[in-house]
Formats: sequence, C-alpha cells, structure tokens
Amino acid sequence: MDSPFKKDALKGKVALLTGGGSGIGFEISTQFGKHGASIAIMGRRKQALDDAVSVLTSFGIPAVGFEGDVRKPEDAKRVVESTYQHYGRIDILVNAAAGNFLVSAEDLSSNGFRTVLDIDSVGTFSMCREALRYLKKGGLGRTSHSGGIILNISATLHYTAAWYQIHVSAAKAAIDATTRNLALEWGTDYDIRVNGIAPGPIGDTPGMSKLVPEDITSKAKDYMPLYKLGEKWDIAMAAVYLASDAGGYIVQMFSSQHET
Ligand code: HXC
Repeated sequence: MDSPFKKDALKGKVALLTGGGSGIGFEISTQFGKHGASIAIMGRRKQALDDAVSVLTSFGIPAVGFEGDVRKPEDAKRVVESTYQHYGRIDILVNAAAGNFLVSAEDLSSNGFRTVLDIDSVGTFSMCREALRYLKKGGLGRTSHSGGIILNISATLHYTAAWYQIHVSAAKAAIDATTRNLALEWGTDYDIRVNGIAPGPIGDTPGMSKLVPEDITSKAKDYMPLYKLGEKWDIAMAAVYLASDAGGYIVQMFSSQHET
C-alpha cells in the first residue's frame, strides 16, 4: 500500500531498532527507510539480520545489522555505540524486541517469567538508558536543537487478561509504565519524545502465528472492532507519524486498537 506520508518525512534521521529484522520491527525498519531514514537493526540471529539488511539495501535504504541480545546490558551499550560510530548520530530508538511462548501460569517457572521480562522490559530500559546521551538535546552527534525520539512497542494483552500470557502481559505492562515515566522525565529534562505503540492483533507476525491458531483467528475477527486483523503496515505508519515532525506534540501513549 502507498504511504500517505511524504517520502522525505524522516530524511537525514538515523534509527536504531531492536527486533528490527523481523515481524513488526522489520516493517517499521522498512517504512522508516522508505521515508528517508538510515537504519541500524539489532538482533540475536546473524542470519536473520543479514537477510533483513539485504532486503533493506535492495530498496536503496542505508542499513546495517548488529548482533546482540537486549538482555545483556553490555550488548545494549555496544550496539548503541556501534550505531553512533557507523552513522555519527542517533535520532530514533525503537524497542521492538520481544520474547513469547504460550504457557499456563501453573506450568511457568520463575525463570521463564523472568526471561520474558528480561527481554521485553529490562531490555527496553537498557536500550533507552544507553541511547540517552545520543538522543538528548545537545547530546553526542545532535545537530538540531531538539532531542530525539523513543518508540516502545508493547501490546494490549495486559489491559484486561489473556490466557497463557501472564509473563508477556506483565512484561508489556512494565514497558507501558517505562514509556510513561521516561516520557515525563526525559521529555522534561532532555526534550526527548517517548511514545509507545500498543498493537492489537496483527496478522503475519511471529507472535500471531505462534500464539493464535488460524481457526481461533478467524472466529476472533467477529469480535474485533473492524472485523479484521491489523497489518504490520498499519503499525509502521503509526511509527512513521510518531517519529516525524507531524508527531511533534505527541508524548506518552498511542494505541492502535484496544481488545475488548
Ligand atoms: C514454558 C518455557 C518455554 C515454553 C522457554 N521457557 N520456552 N517455559 N513453555 N514454551 C522457559 C524455559 O523453561 C526456561 O526456564 C526459561 O523460559 C528460559 O528458556 P530458554 O529456552 O533458556 O531461553 P531462550 O533460549 O533465551 O529463549 C527465550 C524465548 C525466546 C523467550 C523462548 O527465544 C523467544 O520467545 N523467542 C521467540 C520470539 C518471538 O516469538 N517473538 C514474538 C513476540 S510476540 P527454566 O526454569 O526451565 O530455566 C509479541 C506480541 C505479544 O510480543 C502479543 C501477541 C498477541
């Protein structure tokens, strides 16, 4: 689908995306690139990173991949520094990396619960923390008089309750809380706009294919506000809007669709 935004909406910007090599993260990488941004993606799997970078490059998008696990603070620091060394600036950080599996609360070990919180919540915070000195107004590599942008991707599971997703619901709730608190502190102190996108069910993603069998998906559509799943493109367009100057007065929380 054609973008409703101008092709140069993100011209000259450098975006670092965790989980930017697959699913929703990759679509955001692609659309940011198609709107003029240079892209760095962080992920655990080298082959997936290489494949994603090749696709972006084939569209003429400047792109680089850095291997790393957001659970490791030293990886977060190294990848943020490598992005700065590669492009000379960082304007946008997108935290899209996430872990997930279906398990009943009864069968979930404390380590399993902790693993998903480590990836989603602690990982998001670590990346934000490491990126601060590049994103803040007057920070390293900043040429404009404003601060940069952080987008944290969560979900809508935790607005109510979701079967076999206690760990993920807790992790996404922590991301939303982190988003609001950083929006307050870093918006005030450093002119960084911190926003979250909370996608409802989005088709053709690792999360949906792993978590929701097709027969449930088709029945569930009857209860969705628009009688259909969202597309990765829908989320990427929200991300382009929030990262662009058009989103200049938006802070805190943007939700694409609430589950009921
Ligand atoms: C029960 C499990 C489990 C499972 C792992 N664990 N998988 N417990 N059922 N299926 C437990 C393990 O037993 C272990 O605890 C602990 O978790 C760590 O497991 P590891 O295998 O050592 O961890 P690791 O190899 O690092 O893998 C972590 C991972 C991750 C979370 C499984 O690799 C992963 O999920 N990758 C897939 C990414 C993904 O699908 N992303 C899409 C996100 S979708 P013990 O106690 O045994 O040591 C999304 C949208 C949400 O975010 C909304 C959807 C609608």
